[in-house]
Amino acid sequence: MNPQPLVFVSGTLPGNSVEQLFGCFNVVRGESGIRSAEFAACRERVEALVALVTDRIDEALLATLPRLRIVANVAVGVDNIDLAACARRGIVVTNTPDVLTEATADLAFGLLLSAARRIAEGDRLMRAGGFSGWTPTFMLGTRVHGMTLGILGLGRIGQAVARRARGFGMHVLYTQRTRLSEEMERALGAAFVPALDEMLARADAVSIHCPLTQETRHLFSRERLARMKPGSVLVNTARGPIVDEAALADALAKGPLAAAGLDVYEEEPRVHPALLTRENVVLAPHIGSADRASREAMAGMAIANVMRFLSGEPPVSQVTMGR
Ligand code: NAP
Ligand code: GLV
Repeated sequence: MNPQPLVFVSGTLPGNSVEQLFGCFNVVRGESGIRSAEFAACRERVEALVALVTDRIDEALLATLPRLRIVANVAVGVDNIDLAACARRGIVVTNTPDVLTEATADLAFGLLLSAARRIAEGDRLMRAGGFSGWTPTFMLGTRVHGMTLGILGLGRIGQAVARRARGFGMHVLYTQRTRLSEEMERALGAAFVPALDEMLARADAVSIHCPLTQETRHLFSRERLARMKPGSVLVNTARGPIVDEAALADALAKGPLAAAGLDVYEEEPRVHPALLTRENVVLAPHIGSADRASREAMAGMAIANVMRFLSGEPPVSQVTMGR
């Protein structure tokens, strides 16, 4: 009799979806993911890997996993995985789209409000006993209602941000490689701008929602940040390396940026020291999808992808190369 396929589950997933694997498969869990002793002990037998964004799945790792057939990422972003290397080895990659869209859009909007209206800075000031009473000029920020919001990547999350923007009376611009249909643009109230630089020159706030790829790494370079509208706000809930963090710190110190809200960093969990000392940046610890319901749904989707694949059915959300 063939032994049950071995499924390695990285970290601790919220909810109880992992329990569905018991009985059907041989399950090994490792708190510190692919760096754990549990993983090292079973790697040659692993057929399915439930991976986290903190697990780097590259050529070197794949070379040590001779039986691996599926990587089920508990995330929509798959930049932690070498997709080409997986494709060469016939390894299927899956992700968790949709179930985290609204949660991540909520956080992007929260960061925009917090950065523009100096909410986190005000909280720090209150706790330090720095509030000596209302004055007409105290802690003036940037008006959010009615601002022009530029969205880089009007995909699932970008569209959810655009829907929220309508409630705030914003004028929404977007840019990406493929223009949406006129019908979708009308429904979202979003106007296409072909060039990122044009959008940056016009937008009072910019929210980043494209994936991290070779094309988007350091898209927000020093030169590009310098071209942003004076007094504007930058929000990044996509991936840290899309923005040059050192250049961002300078743009916050010397202009043109008034403020920024970040959930993601170039070298997580490290944050550039120049950002840590700035009052005009709000720093969140990569919690875009971290409402309980969304995180449980992500875990459930990753587990469903593994169960379906190992039972010979197509996964719910297989990642296709090139998109
Ligand atoms: P999605 O639906 O695939 O949307 C991505 C959008 O980015 C698409 O509209 C795509 O349009 C655009 N895009 C891709 N490459 C581009 C490029 N080179 N230049 C400009 N636009 C480009 O993905 P999603 O579900 O919204 O997720 C987006 C990203 O958010 C994920 O990849 C992940 O990194 C991040 N995320 C972060 C968190 C968090 O916890 N902070 C949570 C969830 C997701 P075109 O293909 O037409 O260009
Ligand atoms: C989280 O960062 C995700 O990509 O789902």
